[in-house]
Amino acid sequence: MGKEEIAFFDAKPYDKEWFDKYNKNYDIRYYVGRLRPENAKLAEGAKAVCVFVNDDVNEKTIEILSRLKVEVILLRCAGYNNVSVKTAQKRGIKVLRVPAYSPYAVAEHTMGLILALNRKIPRAYIRTRDFNFSLNGLMGFDLHGKTAGVIGTGKIGRVFIDICKGFGMNVLAFDPFPAKIDGVEYVSKEELFTDSDIISLHCPLTKETHYIINKSSLELMKKNVLIVNTSRGRLIDTEALLSALNEKRIGGAALDVYEEESGLFFEDNSDKIVTDEVISLLVSRPNVIITSHQAFFTEEALSNIAQITLENFDDYLSGNELKNEVK
Ligand code: NAI
Repeated sequence: MGKEEIAFFDAKPYDKEWFDKYNKNYDIRYYVGRLRPENAKLAEGAKAVCVFVNDDVNEKTIEILSRLKVEVILLRCAGYNNVSVKTAQKRGIKVLRVPAYSPYAVAEHTMGLILALNRKIPRAYIRTRDFNFSLNGLMGFDLHGKTAGVIGTGKIGRVFIDICKGFGMNVLAFDPFPAKIDGVEYVSKEELFTDSDIISLHCPLTKETHYIINKSSLELMKKNVLIVNTSRGRLIDTEALLSALNEKRIGGAALDVYEEESGLFFEDNSDKIVTDEVISLLVSRPNVIITSHQAFFTEEALSNIAQITLENFDDYLSGNELKNEVK
């Protein structure tokens, strides 16, 4: 019998490198395009599809996968807001994910963004490349003694809290399932918005968290607050954020994710006319830093992602307990 096939969508060179390194058992067909109803037919003959954060695994896609007898959706990420899990369940298709691959990667990138934004490191770098050694406009503030507001105190949020404590920051947190964490005070969302100097999002995208940063929450915040989002784009109403930036009601924003990132992020658009006005304006602001959903992007994380994704499929085929099933 031939090897089981995996149709692997939104494949990038780095995905292929790490999956080829660990794959011994399967025939992986790499497709550059993101999975969506229009190209789901490519999964024909495969028992599993492997997808990432911006594949559109909606009801329609899953109906097609079901007709093609695909049995498993292998998410090579933690978040699953882009998959209609209900439809998959109805069709008997298992959804398996990688719940944790490196909380350190994301938490460290988050602090990197804060430092870059607060101390204006990208601006300083560009200046000194042109022998401009002026400090005008580069002033930041000490993190020591300031307050970090952390929304979502799961795996990544907790590592980020440890990093903040290392900087001598006070930490406020909001999470519907508070944990016992030394030196962290759980408060209401409103208190967190009002009292924080830095607000960092580490919760999943759900109905409750959709646009958790919006016009009214922005109105509660301190004038110099820095907002950091390394979770999911739709946690922030980006137009409301842009208005707050334009009206100088907040200090700045660092975004590793963007609500309209699909089709834009992970790709080189430098030769194209990007018609998304909101991102174009954000990119042009001196107090905004954008990275392209790269917080997870470390060797350790990619190695874990490849191994756990393949193990999830091994478990399914061997009839083992599916510890990483999305239910
Ligand atoms: P986790 O599941 O360990 O923690 C999530 C926390 O959010 C939990 O404590 C949960 O109780 C809390 N939460 C749920 N609903 C909430 C609400 N309404 N308000 C506040 N908190 C709420 O997840 P983990 O591993 O810490 O990841 C967090 C998020 O980070 C993921 O959902 C994903 O969106 C994002 N992520 C981003 C990456 C990137 O490269 N930028 C990579 C990996 C994850």
